[in-house]
Amino acid sequence: MLPDLRLPLLAAVLVALAPAARAAGDKVGPEACKACHPSAYERWRVSPHARALEVLPAERRDDPRCLSCHAPDREDGLAGVSCETCHGPGRAYAADYVMRDRELARAVGLADPGPKTCLACHTDSTPSLLRFDPKRKLPLIDHWSPHWTPAPGDAAAPAGPRAPARPAPAPARRPGGR
Ligand code: HEC
Ligand code: HEC
Ligand code: HEC
Ligand code: HEC
Repeated sequence: MLPDLRLPLLAAVLVALAPAARAAGDKVGPEACKACHPSAYERWRVSPHARALEVLPAERRDDPRCLSCHAPDREDGLAGVSCETCHGPGRAYAADYVMRDRELARAVGLADPGPKTCLACHTDSTPSLLRFDPKRKLPLIDHWSPHWTPAPGDAAAPAGPRAPARPAPAPARRPGGR
């Protein structure tokens, strides 16, 4: 539908957003993603990536040699290895109409994380006994497979068709509040 509108729209959005996407402060933070991806957020929140800054000894939490892997987006106010560390800075793509358009979202910064993304930090120099094997490690951070149940209002509800109107996120349902 409306294929004729897509290119001009894409062009307009690119013109409007490209400079912003390159500037610092182009990240919205995990709480913003949580509004539409509550299940992915919960999975991430209990993962080692969410606490990668906290595991550093206090005197190392400002050490750039450690932050490059343990909190690469700290300058933007993000702790640990956050959503946008892997998925790309979200200010331009985290709008509902952009997110629903796979091409547009990618054109304005949504990255497709995969094994290469992992290996940028999981190098041979990291304190791990075995060489990092993405095939074995990806399932340990799974927040995308259909075998887990998305919360109501989750944009990633696996079985549904691509673009039904999403009900407003249901804040009341958070276990443990907030
Ligand atoms: C306003 C709601 C909203 C916000 C905020 C939002 N998303 Fe989305 N996201 C969506 C919707 C809707 C989809 C499309 C889901 C579908 O069609 O299955 C989506 C899809 C995605 C996808 C899959 C894209 C694809 O084409 O494969 C990823 C990855 C994603 N979002 C990551 C993020 C991240 C990271 C953030 C925060 C920086 C974020 N989203 C913020 C609504 C949102
Ligand atoms: C090249 C990326 C990289 C750099 C740079 C880095 N780390 Fe790490 N660090 C990792 C990874 C990846 C792990 C997880 C390894 C594993 O468990 O297999 C880790 C794990 C750790 C752990 C163990 C955490 C736990 O849960 O037990 C500590 C502590 C730590 N790093 C401290 C540091 C300190 C201090 C520095 C700076 C001097 C530093 N790291 C620099 C990638 C890095
Ligand atoms: C360590 C990197 C990493 C972090 C951190 C991370 N993700 Fe992901 N994410 C991935 C990978 C890898 C995939 C799977 C991509 C694929 O193969 O489909 C994925 C998939 C997704 C998808 C599903 C896309 C689809 O196909 O439906 C969503 C939504 C998503 N992530 C949102 C988030 C949100 C929200 C956060 C933060 C709360 C987050 N991610 C943090 C790496 C990451
Ligand atoms: C920006 C750097 C960075 C990226 C990119 C990254 N990680 Fe990590 N990862 C870390 C750090 C730092 C730790 C240690 C955190 C801690 O101990 O709390 C870690 C810990 C882990 C752990 C727990 C320790 C272990 O090895 O079992 C898993 C699993 C993991 N990462 C998987 C992944 C996967 C899969 C990807 C790619 C999709 C990825 N990571 C991308 C920095 C990163």
